Amino acid sequence: MDIINKIRESREEEEQLKWRGTFREYLELLKEHPHIAQTAHSRVYNMIKDAGVLERDSKKMYKFFGDEIYGLEDSLEKLVEEYFHSAARRLDVRKRILLLMGPVSGGKSTIVTLLKRGLERYSRTDRGAVYAIEGCPMHEDPLHLIPPHLREDFYRDYGIRVEGHLSPLNVMRLETEYGGRIEDVMVERIFFSEDRRVGIGTFSPSDPKSQDIADLTGSIDFSTIAEYGSESDPRAYRFDGELNKANRGMMEFQEMLKCDEKFLWHLLSLTQEGNFKAGRFALISADELIVAHTNEAEYKSFISNKKNEALHSRIIVMNIPYNLRVSEEERIYDKMIRESDMSHVHIAPHALRTAAIFSVLTRLKEPKKQNVDLLKKMKLYDGEELEGFKEQDVDELKKEYADEGMDGIDPRYVINRISSAIIRKDVASINALDVLRSLKDGLDQHPSISNEDKDRYLDFIAIARKEYDEAAKKEVQKAFVYSYEESAKTLMDNYLDNVESYCNKTKMRDPLTGEEMNPDEKLMRSIEEQIGISENAKRAFREEILIRISAYARKGKKFDYNSHERLREAIQKKLFADLKDVVKITTSTKTPDESQLKKINEVIARLIDEHGYNSVSANELLRYVGSLLNR
Ligand SMILES: Nc1ncnc2c1ncn2[C@@H]1O[C@H](COP(=O)(O)OP(=O)(O)OP(=O)(O)O)[C@@H](O)[C@H]1O
Ligand SMILES: [Mg+2]
Repeated sequence: MDIINKIRESREEEEQLKWRGTFREYLELLKEHPHIAQTAHSRVYNMIKDAGVLERDSKKMYKFFGDEIYGLEDSLEKLVEEYFHSAARRLDVRKRILLLMGPVSGGKSTIVTLLKRGLERYSRTDRGAVYAIEGCPMHEDPLHLIPPHLREDFYRDYGIRVEGHLSPLNVMRLETEYGGRIEDVMVERIFFSEDRRVGIGTFSPSDPKSQDIADLTGSIDFSTIAEYGSESDPRAYRFDGELNKANRGMMEFQEMLKCDEKFLWHLLSLTQEGNFKAGRFALISADELIVAHTNEAEYKSFISNKKNEALHSRIIVMNIPYNLRVSEEERIYDKMIRESDMSHVHIAPHALRTAAIFSVLTRLKEPKKQNVDLLKKMKLYDGEELEGFKEQDVDELKKEYADEGMDGIDPRYVINRISSAIIRKDVASINALDVLRSLKDGLDQHPSISNEDKDRYLDFIAIARKEYDEAAKKEVQKAFVYSYEESAKTLMDNYLDNVESYCNKTKMRDPLTGEEMNPDEKLMRSIEEQIGISENAKRAFREEILIRISAYARKGKKFDYNSHERLREAIQKKLFADLKDVVKITTSTKTPDESQLKKINEVIARLIDEHGYNSVSANELLRYVGSLLNR
């Protein structure tokens, strides 16, 4: 019932938003809310801005894109500021087609879809409200009704510039339906909807021979010519092309550069002069954002053709490269999997990250800077702090290439390989190694990878694998050490007792038998060796610890497990070394003893409870780390 209620609520909401009135009433409304007369470009810009802008390190992040597009902040800032913002201020860029150029599945369509869905929602808000001449198939701007010779006066009164002239259809309707009385023309609020073909359009070229320009600009309705007597009667024309329908909003032009020239010429005049030619009428004014997208190869071949020069100068190209940050890439995969039919599959921790390391590496260009290799560059880009590098180095690296991220492995390929790994493995659980293996196997089938690239990519798979090995070991260590914090503390107390007796040259007492004995040199060394303390340095290290303990005591503070960083590290490593033996034994023997089994089970429980594994992937991880340790 809940959903039925919601459906009803949303219908009632829409009912309430509706507005209908005469042009005279519309002008009153306009006095109060001048923004309702904004241009299409301005509306898009305000929509993005109204969603919220975060400023971080003098960089802008638009919440409008934030939930869907990851890691492209720089490109999006350029897009919003250089195109939408300028266009909103009626600068010349408004008269250009916006062309998003970028590699396959780099998010171009996603951006366009966000804009479309965003506009649909925005037109239902106060700030994004749109009004049109009632019953007009092109939702014409009511202000077009103002005769050209009075527009200066209108500007003085309202501060609004009117561009474009009344369409032939509305010229006729004004005469026949309203007897020329402009103030009586009915105006209504409209709501953008691609499904209902209001304010949002999509044009995608099909076979150029059969495709008709009518798809773009509408066409004569021959069945009505008899009724109206002439082809040039606007009532005999169907204003149902994508350009007509998208008026006041936006039109997506898919595969624009694949399109036949005759289609492009219409765009030329629309973008430049704000009007296009339809049928046998005077030009029709339109106000809409046109967004196209393409890849680099296609764009290059397009501009290399002299014939396209005029069109070229009317296009603003914005690069939409691949994301170059590993953690953002991981989010992309995560989102794509959630949206797919694989969402029930358990993906072990590190699986997506490992794949992301691989794909980002394929996209990066070899750094020119000294002492940076590709892996370091990747980490720096991802915001990791590396010793000897500063924020500024990252900026310098980014400046080395203007067109980084325009090639490499695309997210869809990775998702396809993950899905094929799932099918092959036939369990609903997949780990980093499964993914890497599948990525590797897929390289042979990838249509656009040269042999040279393939060799490079195989190297990157090896690098990603090494990164995973390290992460896997650390993960097990963490899980182990954590569940053995008690043992860690005991081990440390034991060590400190021995150090004390060693430095003070006293005997220790066996807690069970009460016998006197010497400090346990073997135990102390086994811990100290973990952090590389040599035989010669051991005395200094032990004394330093005693000094630290007495300094703590003087201040009334308790010296504990976390009080000495290097000592803690040594203890953890020692424990992990002990674990190594356990892991090695349990993974290589078929019959681990009871205490070994207990330890392993505790680690597995920890991996499941705290680190996001399931029992399959936790066991796989332990077995794998075991095999790494056995090497
Ligand atoms: N930077 C990104 N942030 C979030 N998702 C992304 C990003 N890049 C790609 N994707 C995801 O990858 C998939 C493919 O993206 P999309 O279809 O938008 O790419 P495209 O550039 O239009 O590709 P094509 O050139 O093949 O048409 C989508 O599911 C999209 O969500
Ligand atoms: Mg696309």
